[in-house]
Amino acid sequence: MPTRREFIAATAAAGAATALAGVPVEAAQQSTLFAAPPMDRVRIGFVGVGGQGSVHVDNLLMIEGVEIRAICDIVEWKVARAQDAVVAADQPKPAGYSRGPRDFERMCAEQELDLVFTATPWEWHVPVLLAAMRNGKHAATEVPAAMTVDDCWQLVEAAEKLQKHCLMMENCCYDRREMLALHLVRLGMLGEILHGECGYLHDLREIKFAKEGEGLWRRAWSQTHDGNLYPTHGLGPIAQCMNVNRGNRFDFLVSMSSNHRGLEQYAADHFAETDPRRHEAYKLGDVNVTLIRTLKGQTISVGHNTNNARPYSRINLVQGTQGIIQGWPDRVYIEGRSPEDRWETLDRYYDEFEHPLWKSARVRDATNGHGGMDFLEDWRLIACLRAGLPTDQNVYDAAAWSSLVDLTERSVAARGRPQDVPDFTRGRWQSTPPLGIIES
Ligand SMILES: NC(=O)c1ccc[n+]([C@@H]2O[C@H](COP(=O)([O-])OP(=O)(O)OC[C@H]3O[C@@H](n4cnc5c(N)ncnc54)[C@H](O)[C@@H]3O)[C@@H](O)[C@H]2O)c1
Repeated sequence: MPTRREFIAATAAAGAATALAGVPVEAAQQSTLFAAPPMDRVRIGFVGVGGQGSVHVDNLLMIEGVEIRAICDIVEWKVARAQDAVVAADQPKPAGYSRGPRDFERMCAEQELDLVFTATPWEWHVPVLLAAMRNGKHAATEVPAAMTVDDCWQLVEAAEKLQKHCLMMENCCYDRREMLALHLVRLGMLGEILHGECGYLHDLREIKFAKEGEGLWRRAWSQTHDGNLYPTHGLGPIAQCMNVNRGNRFDFLVSMSSNHRGLEQYAADHFAETDPRRHEAYKLGDVNVTLIRTLKGQTISVGHNTNNARPYSRINLVQGTQGIIQGWPDRVYIEGRSPEDRWETLDRYYDEFEHPLWKSARVRDATNGHGGMDFLEDWRLIACLRAGLPTDQNVYDAAAWSSLVDLTERSVAARGRPQDVPDFTRGRWQSTPPLGIIES
């Protein structure tokens, strides 16, 4: 493995043109929404350097043109750890902010930054994003961007008014199979796209009960909410295949939840009677199932289960008139190419139809953070900012995909009653072209 410095030196020469492989400039220029003037360097303030924030910091330090100028976390030693990582990458020590849960406001007010990036617990995403934009910075967040429809609107309104990027970093849109699926869709190989199935099916019981990291905040949401708390990993890639917000949009959804058993049972099996975690009450149904219909008539099933024994899956199924691709396990069937009525593995398809961005050795070698997809999303963000292009995901995607948290909860509470998904683009979906990245 090259060191960080060697990596930067080896790749610097490639420059922005290579970084933008896969983005036809004309397609990108058609959409001037939130395209900001190009910038040579991107000065970043990072808020929340726990598990996922540290992955981003490490990735960003490998990308040409990035300067990490400030670090904020409520835990002082985490700030120091991230500062050390920046210094180890031969950058000046960034300013540290750890004077409490709203210290990011001081950082946004007094630091000269181009971008504020947050990987805090869910309840802090919107306050950080708004503080960033109101202080003239672009803003990026981990997922979901917001937990209520009102907060989604706040982000949209601030980004439009202040003309700042406000994007959610949905890394699963950049995973290799998801990008292959998108590429096959763009090439028309699956025919007309009719249906998608996706989800976040991840046994998080141990993590939710941990006395550090996500255990400090994630379980609390299971005590107070019942719906799909984490819709975007599954939904983002399907929404891109269906051109949601770019010629299409979500119309309405219905949602139901099963009983909740997993967390209660885990606590009973693992903790002593005197442990307060043994006596918590939960609201989140273990299995939540949602059906969305798009305005163009496609259907999407979105699952959520973080409470039961099961292997990981995001499903990632795309059904078209001519074929189907699906993950966990990976398989594809295309009429006329595949043996009749038999699934194929993806190997041959990667050879022939790999998404251009995944042909890059730089991406394939970047294993830090979910096998390369986290590096790719950070790389694309910086490439777009430096080139002055619209980002791959924008505030409307952040709002539409994240709005499911609140809308599923409302539907569950109303015996599955349909909920309209707001048009966060206020009609712009009709004139916004499909995402450039998908065409090579
Ligand atoms: N995209 C992915 O694959 C992926 C994976 C893991 C987590 N995440 C997302 O990343 C975010 C963080 O998750 P995590 O696993 O890193 O959790 P974590 O608990 O490890 O990290 C959160 C960090 O934020 C800090 N923090 C909390 N409140 C703060 C505040 N007010 N100001 C500044 N710092 C604050 C905490 O001290 C901690 O260091 C969540 O939104 C989560 O959904 C995404």
